Amino acid sequence: MSDYRPLVFAHRGGADALPEHTLGAYMRALEDGADGLECDVRLTRDGHLVCVHDRNLNRTSNGRGLVSTKTLAELDALNFGSWHPSYPSDEDLPDLSRLLTLDRLLEALRDSGRQVRLLIETKHPSRYGAEVERKLVETLGRHGLPDDKVHVTVMSFAALALRRVRAQAPGVPTVYLLEILPPGVGRGRLPFGARIAGPGVGLVRSRPGLVPSIRQAGHQVYVWTVNEPDDLDMVLDHRVDGVITDRPKFVLDRVAEM
Ligand code: G3P
Ligand code: CA
Repeated sequence: MSDYRPLVFAHRGGADALPEHTLGAYMRALEDGADGLECDVRLTRDGHLVCVHDRNLNRTSNGRGLVSTKTLAELDALNFGSWHPSYPSDEDLPDLSRLLTLDRLLEALRDSGRQVRLLIETKHPSRYGAEVERKLVETLGRHGLPDDKVHVTVMSFAALALRRVRAQAPGVPTVYLLEILPPGVGRGRLPFGARIAGPGVGLVRSRPGLVPSIRQAGHQVYVWTVNEPDDLDMVLDHRVDGVITDRPKFVLDRVAEM
């Protein structure tokens, strides 16, 4: 039996089994034993942070159009669960149809009393300017976070977003997400004080030296989105620090067998 045990994060709340970014999906992932949750946030027209991955509403709700052109009240009138094959669920879960906002998620985590790691990805720094990170830091402050229960880490593909978070909330750790390899990162250099590298699983597969170099430079590595058995075996062989997956139960079961 190995003493290696990666952190397991439910990507979009565990998007495989239940409608992504609904409170029911998040709570189910935590019940299943996930260490943490991965949450995308973007801004509504009236400046609220909502947990929605896509730029538009078409895939994950019964609405149409861009999230950024809607008010919170307009989004609250939509169903965010009915598109998913598991909906409605007969399990005893919180609402699987209601829009999740960052405020609602943080309140639910506080009320649960659980110790949880929350990876928040800001979408989309290049479109919203500095407002999405400013609003995120303001929201965390309003909820008294991070604290000893909810451990918050901010993630972005944009170095600029990491710089903004560092300037406004220097104590909050950041993850530099990678789909391709920018200059320097292959030698373990991350921008703006990022503590963690977040390569996609395809990048890890195509660059076997990447994880060792980044770890040698003193950084941690969280890999996304690890859903397939051979990908999971590969990242576990690399002894990555975190696994971000749509299938937290599958990953947790596999890790428990190690
Ligand atoms: O955890 C990082 C991963 O979520 C990035 O990809 O498109 O699912 O946000 P995406
Ligand atoms: Ca994401």
